[in-house]
Amino acid sequence: MSATKSFVTAVAAPQLSDPSLFRQEAFINNEWVNKPQTFAVEDPATGQEIGRVPEMDGEDARVAIKAAADAFKTWSKTTGKQRHDLLKKWYDAIMANQEDLAKILTWENGKTLTEARGEIAYGASFYEWFAEEAVRTYGTTIPSPMPGQRYVTIKQPVGPVGIILPFNFPNAMLTRKVGAALAAGCTVVIKPGAEVPYSALALCELAKRVGIPAGVVNIITTLDNAAEIGTELCTNPSIKKISFTGSTAVGKLLVKQSSSTMKKVSMELGGNAPFIVFDDADIDAAVEGALASKFRGTGQTCVCANRIYVQRGVYDEFAAKLAAKVNEFKVGHGFEPDTTHGPLINHRAVEKVQRHLDDAVSKGGKIIAGGKALGGNFFEPTVVTGMTNDMQIAKEETFGPIAGLFTFDTEEEIIERANNTPFGLAAYFYSRDVGRVWRVSEQLESGMVGANSGIISSCYAPFGGVKESGLGREGSHLGIEDYVNVKYINMGGI
Ligand code: SIN
Repeated sequence: MSATKSFVTAVAAPQLSDPSLFRQEAFINNEWVNKPQTFAVEDPATGQEIGRVPEMDGEDARVAIKAAADAFKTWSKTTGKQRHDLLKKWYDAIMANQEDLAKILTWENGKTLTEARGEIAYGASFYEWFAEEAVRTYGTTIPSPMPGQRYVTIKQPVGPVGIILPFNFPNAMLTRKVGAALAAGCTVVIKPGAEVPYSALALCELAKRVGIPAGVVNIITTLDNAAEIGTELCTNPSIKKISFTGSTAVGKLLVKQSSSTMKKVSMELGGNAPFIVFDDADIDAAVEGALASKFRGTGQTCVCANRIYVQRGVYDEFAAKLAAKVNEFKVGHGFEPDTTHGPLINHRAVEKVQRHLDDAVSKGGKIIAGGKALGGNFFEPTVVTGMTNDMQIAKEETFGPIAGLFTFDTEEEIIERANNTPFGLAAYFYSRDVGRVWRVSEQLESGMVGANSGIISSCYAPFGGVKESGLGREGSHLGIEDYVNVKYINMGGI
């Protein structure tokens, strides 16, 4: 529940063309599972209850893990072509229900319907992509130094996978992981973000309809038992891999727990993305890039720009143009057609944004657009100038709609400042000097770079970080590699 009353007080439940996509049970072994204990899921824009889902615990997780382990025995033996066909059918089913899935997503997450439609298509693209990768898990032949021996490698699925999801992309973070896992021949047990279980459950309804076999995909919902379920997934010997998107602090804990059974891990963790505007940049393009990168999902993506560095000669022009555009934003319920930005996910997120803003202002920052909490989980998209390195935003991801603008003088200085963080997920910069584009791209310590580009995410490209932003890559031709083991076979007696 929000700490203060929202300025959007009530909204009617969305009309779905197919109301049976809205499921309120957990999903284990192709059965919808209820429990006497449930927890409420709220619309973050209004605080109204959307519905209730089961409060599951470690014992439920063990049941789901057993289902996934049993299903693995047969799913891992299917051909890549069989898995391709099922993933492709799931993709088609998602796209056929895009509007309903988008409405469910907006309702529970708050992002605008336009963004939600985009997320459904982005999410589905991972199934299309990984359907096509399922038939391409090639092995190798290695020239043998021994006349009577032949060396080959094959790729095999790692086993049942535990998947722990965040709130910010309730559809696409699931599909990015599940697409790769299923394509490789793995089965999955998923814990969705407690705030957003309905998108995940709707995907299961479609999985069942298209014929994904029992036990291949399982979902356990929880609010209060997240730590217990996380520990079970990370320590249960039947689970062979953990894939997590979320904070670095939780990621470190999960890696520690997973080490007890030496699981493979994929960790897509926090960032603190620099966004650099050089004085040779196309300023209008840089403003558009900054708006897209900073304010996507109301600032709640791991790849959102967090520190915007503008070279002194173009600082005032960039700041004025950015503020003018931000002043055009319309904050409101995601279902309203003119809303450009929805609420934050909960009052803790609002409090963090307020804390970062107060800290910046107390140290000399000047608000030139927005700056106000609007009640409930809403916060105005905000631009602050005069940012300095001692402010919290310089060090910590805000995960909210504050664009803090710092100045800099030289390329050398800004590379050093941009890299001066334990994190390394995404980094962005704008410059029209081709030599600088190469130099800066190579020197930024991050897994992904947007060079004259504010939106970098795509199923075709590898998503992931370096340093404390994580391990592994999702999407692209590399994504499936995190879900297979390479086996070397030495064939003798030839
Ligand atoms: C994330 O915020 O974790 C994912 C963002 C994206 O896929 O673009």
